[in-house]
Amino acid sequence: MRVLVIGSGGREHALAWKLRSAGGVEALYCAPGNGGTAAEGENVPLADNDLPGLVAFAREKNIDLVVPGPELPLTLGVADAMREAGIAVFGPDKWCARLEGSKAFAKEIMARAGVPTAASGVFTRLEDARAHILEHGAPVVVKADGLAAGKGVIVAATVEEALAAVDQIMGQRAFGAAGDSVVIEERLIGEEVSLLAFCSGETALPLPSAQDHKAAFDGDTGPNTGGMGAYSPAPILPDSELERMTDLTIRPILREMARQGHPYTGVLYAGLMITEDGPKVLEYNVRFGDPECQPLLMRLESNLLEVMTACARGKLEGVRLAVRPEAALGVVVAAEGYPGSYARGLPIAGLEEAESLPGVKVFQAGTRLENGQPVSSGGRVLCVTALGADLAGARDQAYAAVERVRMPQSRHRTDIGAKGLRRLGR
Ligand code: AMP
Ligand code: GLY
Repeated sequence: MRVLVIGSGGREHALAWKLRSAGGVEALYCAPGNGGTAAEGENVPLADNDLPGLVAFAREKNIDLVVPGPELPLTLGVADAMREAGIAVFGPDKWCARLEGSKAFAKEIMARAGVPTAASGVFTRLEDARAHILEHGAPVVVKADGLAAGKGVIVAATVEEALAAVDQIMGQRAFGAAGDSVVIEERLIGEEVSLLAFCSGETALPLPSAQDHKAAFDGDTGPNTGGMGAYSPAPILPDSELERMTDLTIRPILREMARQGHPYTGVLYAGLMITEDGPKVLEYNVRFGDPECQPLLMRLESNLLEVMTACARGKLEGVRLAVRPEAALGVVVAAEGYPGSYARGLPIAGLEEAESLPGVKVFQAGTRLENGQPVSSGGRVLCVTALGADLAGARDQAYAAVERVRMPQSRHRTDIGAKGLRRLGR
């Protein structure tokens, strides 16, 4: 098989590595890729949103399967464009990708499908949003409808903060057209956990649970980032509850999408809040999470190429996922200053020493090769990931590997997995 992975993060390095490791891949390209994907296949200098360029490349290279990593190409319709060209894609069409691309659409589908979620309203006029806030008070969560690079959600403790949020999104148009409408919803209290499933039509095969760490600093403090680390399984959602949770939060969505004439293909990711009143969906992503993907793929024993191909061909029914019993944990090594401004071009050393530890794999994210050596090119630079007999073992091994990585002006969180360990009473 000839495969094209789209994207350039740690997630895409993990996808390329896992696809490669199973055999059956004759050629693997990554557009645009990074320093890590360059070792798994060939990088192609095409941006993830260059749909005509990507289709032309896939045609020219006789690609059999396209695997888009990030949400942007999916919401732009890369799956539709590839399928029109007769090329199989592991990812949803543009219509389905609105589950992530429009929070108002996601809310509507959840309501139709009967999936538990926060009570909410959708507003297209600033005056109406303001009136709603003044009437209902705070706390409240204000969300720009469209994609806003992870910055479009404001948890407002007071009415003033909520009003400032809608002014920023709708009045000043801080996120452009993504703020044409806003979703205002009740604030939920609880612990967050991620449930990801391979999906094809109405069939869903859940992966074990994972937990992301979105805040920049230890103790979940500081600004939100793309994710500073992740681990699997998350004790708050044990394997024994995966099927029930998939029945509650994933399968009803698949049935609703199919009923509306758009069967879903790819990974569906439910961001859940486990509240006192039970689980509620905070959001859907139409792709793997980054960095959740890295520990999850470390644990996956099944041949990823076969699973993705089965999804793309509508033949997922009857497929079983094999998952290692060990836990996996990934620590993101970031450039100092991220998610604000930070230096680029920082030299990275010690990757081989880190990977010489048993069960360790260093996934590269914001890196590129300079004279064959990796240097940083982004804020999240590496995701140092390890398997361990249990969560504590995976954590210890991942941090031992982080110690062996040498990069100036870098930083990482020191408490990845702490919430899970606390729940386990460790
Ligand atoms: P989202 O992109 O919708 O997942 O929102 C990003 C983050 O905002 C989530 O991971 C939560 O930490 C927080 N969040 C979103 N919706 C709510 C809510 N209804 N109640 C409390 N926190 C929320
Ligand atoms: N790590 C969260 C996300 O990929 O959306």
